[in-house]
Amino acid sequence: MAQNEAILKVTDLSVSYGQIKALKGVSIEVFPKEIVVLIGANGAGKTTLLSTILGLNNPVSGTVEFEGRRIDTVPADKNVRAGLCLVPEGRGVFASMTVIDNLLLGAHHNIHDKDKKLARVYEWFPILKKRKDQVAKTLSGGERQMLSIARALMSKPKLIMVDEPSIGLAPIVVNDIFNIITMLNKEGYTILLSEQNAYKALKCAHRGYVLETGNVSLSGSANHLMSDPGVKSAYLGV
Ligand SMILES: Nc1ncnc2c1ncn2[C@@H]1O[C@H](COP(=O)(O)OP(=O)(O)OP(=O)(O)O)[C@@H](O)[C@H]1O
Ligand SMILES: [Mg+2]
Repeated sequence: MAQNEAILKVTDLSVSYGQIKALKGVSIEVFPKEIVVLIGANGAGKTTLLSTILGLNNPVSGTVEFEGRRIDTVPADKNVRAGLCLVPEGRGVFASMTVIDNLLLGAHHNIHDKDKKLARVYEWFPILKKRKDQVAKTLSGGERQMLSIARALMSKPKLIMVDEPSIGLAPIVVNDIFNIITMLNKEGYTILLSEQNAYKALKCAHRGYVLETGNVSLSGSANHLMSDPGVKSAYLGV
């Protein structure tokens, strides 16, 4: 795949839950080594978009392509093997399992180099090494978010999707999480994240899309979005 081809291409995607039209013809692209952010209020469709990309929902219409191949009818577990991963809203760590067991779960479909992957994850998240034998429920919110991201990294992803990483975290911890996202991007990871915390997300992203009730209402470079008057008043509180 050439560097200038999208790693992820979503075209005209529509998803419904019964009568509720959660996505109404959404198109987005993510290029290798980008951080792209989906900005949207509650109910805009961020989680639906990310989970549909992963293969957890059947679209009514539209396509999802990953590395040039259609994946919109491929089940999520197969997409994870192909290099997609989703760090879910609310972290999704197994509270009564230890940190190390949560991490190893992330590598379950490819355990042969698990020790190497574990060592690398501990380098990036020293706090998780320190806490490796603690059960996850004893971690702070920020540590749980780190564990959730670290577990995703154990699957050797080509695209990491993170659904609202900053939700419920204190501002200083939010900074830590965005620093980690920036660091992972510098390490070469491609990242698609959703956020209501638009200011910090746009500060760390290259490009973004604004989702409003299932539609992309605006897209562009992070700088462009940050200076847009509509984005400023609706999402940046300016
Ligand atoms: N399982 C479901 N069944 C029915 N409706 C759903 C379901 N999941 C989401 N919806 C509806 O679909 C729309 C989009 O929801 P979604 O969770 O994707 O939004 P979101 O942008 O992630 O919101 P939030 O910021 O609150 O997480 C909303 O109207 C929501 O009520
Ligand atoms: Mg959501």
